[in-house]
Amino acid sequence: MAQLTVPLCNAGSKMYVNNRGKNMRTPIIAGNWKLNKTIGEALELAKTLQQGLPTTKFEIVVAPSYIAINKVADFLKNSPIKVSAQDMFWEDTGAFTGTVSAPMIKDAGAKYVIIGHSERRQFFSETDETVNKKIKAALKHDLTPIFCVGETLAEREAGKINAVITTQLDGGLRDLTANDLAKIVVAYEPVWAIGTGKTATPEQAEEVHVLIRETLAKKFGDTANKVSILYGGSVKPSNSKELLSKPNIDGALVGGASLKAEDFLGIIKNA
Ligand code: PGA
Repeated sequence: MAQLTVPLCNAGSKMYVNNRGKNMRTPIIAGNWKLNKTIGEALELAKTLQQGLPTTKFEIVVAPSYIAINKVADFLKNSPIKVSAQDMFWEDTGAFTGTVSAPMIKDAGAKYVIIGHSERRQFFSETDETVNKKIKAALKHDLTPIFCVGETLAEREAGKINAVITTQLDGGLRDLTANDLAKIVVAYEPVWAIGTGKTATPEQAEEVHVLIRETLAKKFGDTANKVSILYGGSVKPSNSKELLSKPNIDGALVGGASLKAEDFLGIIKNA
C-alpha cells in the first residue's frame, strides 16, 4: 500500500477511540463514478454489481452521472443498492442554466447526494457557503447529503488539518440543528489521497475521524455519535478491511475502485 509519511494532526481525545457507538451508525460503502460511464456502461456496471452483491450489513450506494441516475435507479429499484447524485444546485427551479436541483435528482431516483467533494471545491469554485446552501436544500427534499471534507497535502504538512477540517465543518453545517445532523453522512477525504494511490494509513484516517466526531459533538452534542463518517481516498480491496475496522471509520467513499465491479465488490466482501 502506498502511504505517505506525513504528520498526524495531533488532535482527538481518547473519548471516541473505542468501538462504542459504532453499531449505532449506518455503515455505508459508496461508489463515486465521477465523470465516467455512458448510460449503457453505467447500467452494465449496476447489473454486474447487483448480480455479484454479497449479503452485507453495509448500505451500498452508487453515484452515476446525472444523466444515468434515472436508468440506474430504475434498474436498481428492487435492489438494496441505493443511488446518489454527485452534486446538485441549491435552488429548486429557475434561470440557472446547466444546473440540476434536489427535486430533479430525487425524482430521478436518487436517495443520496454527494456535496462538497474536493473536486467540486477545486475545479468548480465550491465554497463552504455554497456547500451549506446545498446541504440545506438536500435536507429540505429528504435527500441524504454525503458531506465531504478534507485537507490538501500542503495543509497537512503545515499542521493545519485541525483548522481546515473544523472550518469546513463549521461552514458547511452553519445554522443546522442536531436533528439535521442526524440525517447527514460525513466523508473525510484527504485531497492528497484522492486518485493518487496514496492512502491515509488507518491511523491517520482514524485520527481525523475522531477530530470530526469531536468537532460535531462540540456543536451538536450526542448526535455526533450517530453520524456515519466515511473515509475516501484510494480505497481498494487490499486496504479497505483495515480502514473499516477502525472505531470511527463507518464506511468508505470509493472513486477509482468503484468503476470496476470486481474491485467494488471486493471492497464490500472484505468489509
Ligand atoms: P479515489 O476517489 O478512490 O479514486 O481516490 C475517492 C473520491 O474522490 O471519492
